[in-house]
Order: sequence, then C-alpha cells, then structure tokens
Amino acid sequence: MATARSRLLAATTMVIALAGPALAEDARIELGKYLVTISGCSDCHTPGGLLGQPDMARYLGGSDVGFAIPGDGVYYGPNLTPDKETGLGAWTDQQIVAAIRTGKRPDGRTLSGVMPYPALSHLTEEDVEGIVAYPAASRRSRTRSPARSDRRTSRAPLCRW
Ligand code: HEC
Repeated sequence: MATARSRLLAATTMVIALAGPALAEDARIELGKYLVTISGCSDCHTPGGLLGQPDMARYLGGSDVGFAIPGDGVYYGPNLTPDKETGLGAWTDQQIVAAIRTGKRPDGRTLSGVMPYPALSHLTEEDVEGIVAYPAASRRSRTRSPARSDRRTSRAPLCRW
C-alpha cells in the first residue's frame, strides 16, 4: 500500500515537474500578446500599421513608413520577429530587453526617441519578459524595414511630427 502510494506520488511529481515550465511559458506569451497589443508596437512595427491597414501576415515584420525627424534622419520601426537576418533572431533576450527599456542596441547606438523606450522603461520585469517572449513565439516574417537614413531621399509616405 505504502509502495503504491509513493509510486503514485512520484508519478504526480513528475507530471507537475514536466507541466510546470510549459505552463509558465504559455502564461508569459499570453501576457506578452496582451501587452504588445495594447501598447501599439504593431502600429510602428508592422507593414501598413501607420496607414491604418496592418498586414497581419507580416505582423511585427517591420514598417514601410518612416518617421522623418528634422535635422536627424528617417526612422522605420524594424522587424521584431525572430528571423535571424532581418529580425531579432540573433539578439539575446537581454539585448532585446535593454533596447525596449533603455533604447540601447547591441551595437551601442541609442535608438531614436521615436521608439517610446522612456515610457517602456517603467515596465516590470515580468511584463518586459512577456513582451520579448510573444514576438519570439510568433511566426517569422522576412521583411526588412528600410535602414535609418541620415537624409530623406525617397518619396515614400512619411509620418512627420
Ligand atoms: C511610435 C512608434 C513606435 C512604437 C509605438 C514602438 N516602436 Fe519600437 N521602434 C520604433 C522605431 C522607429 C525604432 C527604430 C529606431 C532607431 O533605429 O533609432 C524602434 C526600435 C525598436 C527596437 C530595436 C530593434 C532594432 O532592430 O534596432 C525594439 C526591440 C523595439 N522597437 C520594440 C518595440 C516594442 C516591443 C514596442 C511595443 C511595446 C515598440 N517597439 C513600440 C518605433 C516604435
């Protein structure tokens, strides 16, 4: 009897141990989905987002509309999907957290203030982890947003402020 009970206990512990991390990861992604949705990341990081017609097949795949900052350059919301070449696939979670919270990119450049990192610096640890986990779990999109340019050279639609 005691043996049966301890076997049952061992089996239950194994199930809990296996299910534990998976559930936590699901919860983190779910929280990230909620936060990414309400904080408008897609407006600036999805093609068509700033035109009110986001291309959901390329969700967070990089904007094709830039922000022209007088005297500085044109900034496009880059691809946030886990694609290694065009997105954040080669960045560590810590590097993505740093960019979101402090505006510091792995190459040392500070992001333009178009990216609302001063506001996002107030995210809790749990919230920012969710925001990083959600796009990472989402479908890849190989959309390269135009690189920052020092002068406005194209006649592409621009958002000015
Ligand atoms: C108002 C527009 C806007 C919003 C809203 C916005 N971003 Fe950005 N984001 C940008 C722009 C523009 C850049 C590029 C700035 C630069 O290159 O200096 C950027 C850069 C980034 C980067 C660095 C990526 C890289 O390749 O350099 C990350 C990560 C990022 N944003 C994540 C987010 C997340 C997550 C959200 C939502 C919580 C968000 N952004 C909301 C405009 C925005």
